[in-house]
Amino acid sequence: MPTTTWNRHHILSLADFTTTEYDTVLQTAASFQEVLSRRTKKVPTLQGQVVANLFFESSTRTRSSFELAAKRLSADTLNFAAATSSMTKGETILDTAKTYLAMGTDIMVVRHREAGVPNAIAAEMDRLGVRVSVLNAGDGQHEHPSQALLDLFTITTLIDPDHPRLELLKGKKIAIVGDILHSRVARSNIWSLIASGAEVHLAAPPTLLPKFFTEFISEESGVRSQESEVRSNSPNPQLFLHWQLEPALQNADFVMTLRLQKERMTAHLLPSLREYHQLFGITCTKLQLCKPSVKVLHPGPVNRGVEISSELMDDPEFSLIQSQVTSGVAVRMALLYLLGSGKA
Ligand code: NCD
Repeated sequence: MPTTTWNRHHILSLADFTTTEYDTVLQTAASFQEVLSRRTKKVPTLQGQVVANLFFESSTRTRSSFELAAKRLSADTLNFAAATSSMTKGETILDTAKTYLAMGTDIMVVRHREAGVPNAIAAEMDRLGVRVSVLNAGDGQHEHPSQALLDLFTITTLIDPDHPRLELLKGKKIAIVGDILHSRVARSNIWSLIASGAEVHLAAPPTLLPKFFTEFISEESGVRSQESEVRSNSPNPQLFLHWQLEPALQNADFVMTLRLQKERMTAHLLPSLREYHQLFGITCTKLQLCKPSVKVLHPGPVNRGVEISSELMDDPEFSLIQSQVTSGVAVRMALLYLLGSGKA
């Protein structure tokens, strides 16, 4: 494992991640990727520690990926699913977290449909003065740091498999396409990609990429927005907004597609799924606008034939979707290791 110091106690957002932190995660994940290629895919690093997966919202890959990552590090895992828990009897979120604390949990991996829940649990743990780390596994429309870090790992290892690092993306053109308004994945990816020096092109219909999105980004990043810049594009020179797909795809190195988050839509934001697919769905034909070496990512789950064509999703030449899932385990091992190694 790289011998780097790691000072972050909770991983809640990527907004203030430093280059050193990104590189530490990438290098640590590369070491675990190597472990996962061995015959014995397990290390004793977190033996005796307890990792609790507190998933208050549904999940397939993120929950399973964290569970497998914890098991590969020899931690004991506890899995919680809201629907079958005492929350149905009225227990509060913080009381649920304290129940897991009382069982000796060292790391809480938290997903919730409301933004801010992982932060609230982390604040409560800090208030109690306990050394429990909280890892945000997706909170409402806010952030999904482990997804953005695995996306970063997937694309940087493609460029340099032995030495993935942030600077490899400097100057690359990356398009993020789709339901940006409701996407915590997009928000976390914007932080990491901007930090890498990449050009980030957001493309969506105006209802899914409202103008206030730039203000939100500028506020969080501390970038001052100037009316003229907002009008011409966005307040950050690396961030571009498009209400049409083509300019975002033109010469792109990577295309990140996003699921239409129907469960988070509160209004009729699209005329029809068919029209959405025609205008913003990524297909093999539309990819011809990109660099010939372009690769396509999607965090899953996928609405086949809506944000991406079925054919492209299954095309091993362009689609990185399966390797994102594989990378997820190594990246989550890295995150649990970095949070947990100080506790032993
Ligand atoms: C994402 C999520 O839950 O935010 N999926 C995931 O974690 N792999 C994206 C989504 O649900 O569309």
